[in-house]
Amino acid sequence: MWARSVLAAALLLGAGVHSQAVNETNSPSCITESKGVHVPGSIPCNPYEPLQHRLAYAGPNGMTVSWSTYAQIASPEVYYGTSPFDVSSIATGYSVTYPTSRVYDNHVKITGLKPNTKYWYRVQYQNCPGCAYRATDTFVTAREAGDETPFSVAVVVDLGLMGRDGLSTSVGPLGGSSAAANPLGPRDLNTIQGLLQNKDTYDFIAHYGDIAYADYFIKESWQGYFGNNSLIPNVTSVVDGYNSLLEQYYDQMTPLTSSKAYMVGAGNHEANCDNGGTTDAVHNITYTTSICTTGQTNFTGYINHFRMPSDESGGDGNFWYSFDYGLAHFITLDSETDLPVGLQSPDEAGGSDAGGDNGPFGYPNEQIQWLEQDLASVDRSKTPWIIIGLHRPWYIAAKNDSGDVCLACQQAFEPLFLKYNVDLYMQGHVHLYERNKPIANYSIDPAGLNNPKAPWNIVNGAAGHYDGLDTLVGSPYWTDVAIDTAYGWSRLTFHNRTHLTHEFVSSANGTILDSATLYKAHDFDN
Ligand SMILES: *[C@@H]1O[C@H](CO)[C@@H](O)[C@H](O)[C@H]1NC(C)=O
Ligand SMILES: *[C@@H]1O[C@H](CO)[C@@H](O)[C@H](O)[C@H]1NC(C)=O
Ligand SMILES: *[C@@H]1O[C@H](CO)[C@@H](O)[C@H](O)[C@H]1NC(C)=O
Ligand SMILES: *[C@@H]1O[C@H](CO)[C@@H](O)[C@H](O)[C@H]1NC(C)=O
Ligand SMILES: *[C@@H]1O[C@H](CO)[C@@H](O)[C@H](O)[C@H]1NC(C)=O
Ligand SMILES: *[C@@H]1O[C@H](CO)[C@@H](O)[C@H](O)[C@H]1NC(C)=O
Ligand SMILES: *[C@@H]1O[C@H](CO)[C@@H](O)[C@H](O)[C@H]1NC(C)=O
Ligand SMILES: *[C@@H]1O[C@H](CO)[C@@H](O)[C@H](O)[C@H]1NC(C)=O
Ligand SMILES: *[C@@H]1O[C@H](CO)[C@@H](O)[C@H](O)[C@H]1NC(C)=O
Ligand SMILES: [Fe+2]
Repeated sequence: MWARSVLAAALLLGAGVHSQAVNETNSPSCITESKGVHVPGSIPCNPYEPLQHRLAYAGPNGMTVSWSTYAQIASPEVYYGTSPFDVSSIATGYSVTYPTSRVYDNHVKITGLKPNTKYWYRVQYQNCPGCAYRATDTFVTAREAGDETPFSVAVVVDLGLMGRDGLSTSVGPLGGSSAAANPLGPRDLNTIQGLLQNKDTYDFIAHYGDIAYADYFIKESWQGYFGNNSLIPNVTSVVDGYNSLLEQYYDQMTPLTSSKAYMVGAGNHEANCDNGGTTDAVHNITYTTSICTTGQTNFTGYINHFRMPSDESGGDGNFWYSFDYGLAHFITLDSETDLPVGLQSPDEAGGSDAGGDNGPFGYPNEQIQWLEQDLASVDRSKTPWIIIGLHRPWYIAAKNDSGDVCLACQQAFEPLFLKYNVDLYMQGHVHLYERNKPIANYSIDPAGLNNPKAPWNIVNGAAGHYDGLDTLVGSPYWTDVAIDTAYGWSRLTFHNRTHLTHEFVSSANGTILDSATLYKAHDFDN
């Protein structure tokens, strides 16, 4: 299986990985012959080969292009232009890494672009000697605030690695009663394939936390998913095991994220190595955070891998930030750390879900102060819609414990959502689909979807990963539709100033499993 061969490759490659030569003959011996194609998760022959391309809006006039390489680039460059035959403009950035990472993350912010315009780009060393061939890539910049053109967005939460080392048609044979559930059917598309199949139907992708689930390396190992020779991970093997799953996920996403902005938020699995405490039921070993390496804790990989538009919005790194797109103002929040003083954040000291020793990333009350200021400053004449994404839910019909329902998040954020007339907030963390009624403080808005005052709430953590789906428990009074039997993603379509449609799209076959339209008068003359 891939994980196995990648582990071996990583060990053989050793320190030679960071050679400075940009030259096939100088690069470490090629473990995987690329033959012009990069196999997801494999270690490239040429350490400068650009991999895992990902884009993030940086205002309507900017785009941040990020990618990873096995060697550090002194001054990474992106070549771009408005024609495929002229990418003569150059933007320059920087290259970062962290202990236990196998790669360098290169970040280049391009500025001075026109809004809603298609650009062609190449990153430095694209098509270098020994590298897989890669055609010139493209992106389209964000629409300016107030652009009334209808548009759609794909939203996922809890999207993990797909394929042989992640969600596939089988699960590890040794799982017993804690076995992974809901493997794919033989003819199902997985969610990454489903998003690819529908790529022309949305402008960008928002992913509100739990990205890749590389921390499932431990559970997949002891359940025999990688074969019997990697059953018992240790502090050494977990480094390459975790990194191979993480890099493989980013590789699988590249056909999407190299041409569409990929706007991410933090989830507990970005701060995690042991899935919040994994017990190997076969060998009676309980893994704790003592097996975690630097890259797996305190959101270290997440901080280094992405560059969200916080500079543009006064936010904090990849944790909280906002941006405009046409008629909508999008806000990403951090439910994992940095809740207001007096409230226990799920992943900080005292929390248990991600080992409990992460954050904070801002000064006390920074996130909530920023949120109120950001909400207060939205020009609703330009962006009547306010859409918020954060990882953890508080209205759910699933496992009902403190790890899943974030009452502290509700206390922190819900009053502001109501006060500032937020239209919709989306969450996940629980691995099923639940479309709730507009609601605040447990009171359903009697208007329903017809111009409610309370925010609409949709929980869609059904994107899928190795472990499967969660099971509905009961049917609370706030729920309109709940589905716990299908993998899927959300498509939001902004028709105009007053109508917004949400669809739950089956990953397996593209069927729309649920659709509902919100009407908001959006007359803000006060
Ligand atoms: C690659 O490196 C080798 C050894 O250092 C050198 O002989 C060769 O000229 C280099 N080739 C290129 C294309 O730079
Ligand atoms: C793997 O180990 C399990 C139990 O430890 C055993 O039942 C199974 O046959 C083994 N599989 C292989 C391929 O050795
Ligand atoms: C850690 O696991 C790897 C892979 O299974 C194995 O080769 C290595 O000997 C183990 N190291 C220790 C210290 O147990
Ligand atoms: C599992 O290990 C714990 C100690 O770590 C021990 O108390 C317990 O008896 C073991 N259970 C079995 C079934 O061996
Ligand atoms: C997590 O990282 C932040 C900076 O990125 C640091 O301020 C904080 O102390 C770290 N938290 C822990 C528990 O190490
Ligand atoms: C969840 O638990 C809380 C108390 O812990 C209770 O008030 C609530 O009704 C429960 N919800 C469901 C759906 O069981
Ligand atoms: C929520 O409603 C209860 C009464 O049901 C009230 O006591 C409480 O103050 C309300 N909380 C907020 C934040 O409005
Ligand atoms: C499509 O997939 C869904 C589950 O995702 C399933 O319920 C439905 O029956 C499938 N439809 C067809 C036409 O196969
Ligand atoms: C807005 O879009 C909805 C849905 O397509 C449509 O029914 C409505 O007439 C549109 N409103 C205006 C003012 O165009
Ligand atoms: Fe989660």
